[in-house]
Amino acid sequence: MNAHSPIQNWLKENNAKHQWHPMQPPKAVEADPPLIVQRGEGVFVEDIDGKRYIDCQGGLWCVNAGHNRAPIKDAITRQMDQLQYYTTFPGSTNAPSIELSAKLCEIAAPEDIAKVFFCLGGSDATESAFKIARQYWKLMGQGEKTKIISLRNGYHGLHFGGMSACGGNAWKRVYEPMVPGFFQVESPHLYRNPFTDDPEELSAICAALLEREIEHQHPDTVAAIIAEPIQGAGGVIVPPASYWPKLREICDRQNVLLIADEVITGLGRSGTLFGSRGWGVKPDIMCMAKGLTSGYLPLGATLIGRRVAEAWDRGGPLSVFMQGYTYSGHPLACAAALAAIDLTLEEKLTENAADVGAYFIGRLKATIGDHPNVGDIRGKGLMIAVELVKDRKTKEPYTPDDAYPNKVSNACVSNGIIIRCIVNKLIISPPLTFTREHVDQVVEVLRKAVEQ
Ligand SMILES: Cc1ncc(COP(=O)(O)O)c(C=O)c1O
Repeated sequence: MNAHSPIQNWLKENNAKHQWHPMQPPKAVEADPPLIVQRGEGVFVEDIDGKRYIDCQGGLWCVNAGHNRAPIKDAITRQMDQLQYYTTFPGSTNAPSIELSAKLCEIAAPEDIAKVFFCLGGSDATESAFKIARQYWKLMGQGEKTKIISLRNGYHGLHFGGMSACGGNAWKRVYEPMVPGFFQVESPHLYRNPFTDDPEELSAICAALLEREIEHQHPDTVAAIIAEPIQGAGGVIVPPASYWPKLREICDRQNVLLIADEVITGLGRSGTLFGSRGWGVKPDIMCMAKGLTSGYLPLGATLIGRRVAEAWDRGGPLSVFMQGYTYSGHPLACAAALAAIDLTLEEKLTENAADVGAYFIGRLKATIGDHPNVGDIRGKGLMIAVELVKDRKTKEPYTPDDAYPNKVSNACVSNGIIIRCIVNKLIISPPLTFTREHVDQVVEVLRKAVEQ
């Protein structure tokens, strides 16, 4: 480092020199340097130049309880003073991982969750879910059931299993071939589908297509369906209310497990504690990460329903769960999660997400809903997307080569609101502590950005 240059300049100059960022061409990071965030407080963050922003993306859909929350920091520090790490591999464990698994089974009691497996993030959680599903059927004497069916536009992380289940080729193309045995069917995307504008009809069509795929593959070969209760990275796609109940019915009818990928929706973001609970559905396996620790430390969890977990009670050579990570059940992360869950429940963050989210969507529709370049405004709780289009009538989307969507999100950033843009969708996923006053500020900035 040049001793004479201020640290801020050194950081700006050196970001792209040695670090590769996710989801960006390395050269583009050099040309268009990212915001360097150095402080956070509640729903606000500050960059290295001291400029303050409303964090309308909640880090990356994860800072549910807000930044710099003393109860979570204290829980981590207390645990750090006592024990920073001990493994959960055979022969040992640690107290926070025991407490957290009990707590997760308690809050997911309505889903009849019996066991929890810990990992480091969402990609690990889905990977573990696929392994559980395949092993379950082997234990049940139906080892041919190995295939995984997922939805177009779905996102399930980027390990090879999760990536193979993803429903968009942008995530897959340069890493093909994918893992064999993964298949995708249409997702019920009301704004963009070739079938109908009627939600109930769409739900029925997409459910029928899914069942046809299971039958086409043969139910004796299908292990599980994985889906997000609300598709996040695909563009906040909210299915019609009857779709998830239909998924459950199909899984029961065809003897297939239902995996809910709750990595974004888990712990309140969509306005119910779990996204699947919002649809009145009990999955067999649930994947969590992100909001589980409110982003304070990396942690993922795969929650296993009683019926599935009981298969391991049969014993025998196949009943060892040959999955695990050095940091499975990391005590600091588990301590953070216990505090984050307490905050979520004590401060009624789930209820706040439902209330403020509905207000947010209403204000957005009233303010920019008629703009010629706003095609759709959709969401549930504090998971919201504004889809920008070239033409409202034809719904012609902006492509990655079009400047307008990024100009809109850049204008928001310049005016103190961090909003993420995925191709032509502005993604809004702030901390669940958001208030109506924050919403009013964001909507005003967004209105100007869209109009300019
Ligand atoms: C639904 C869903 N599943 C899995 C993942 C992967 O999580 P991670 O990035 O923690 O590996 C994500 C990440 O955004 C996600 O949204």
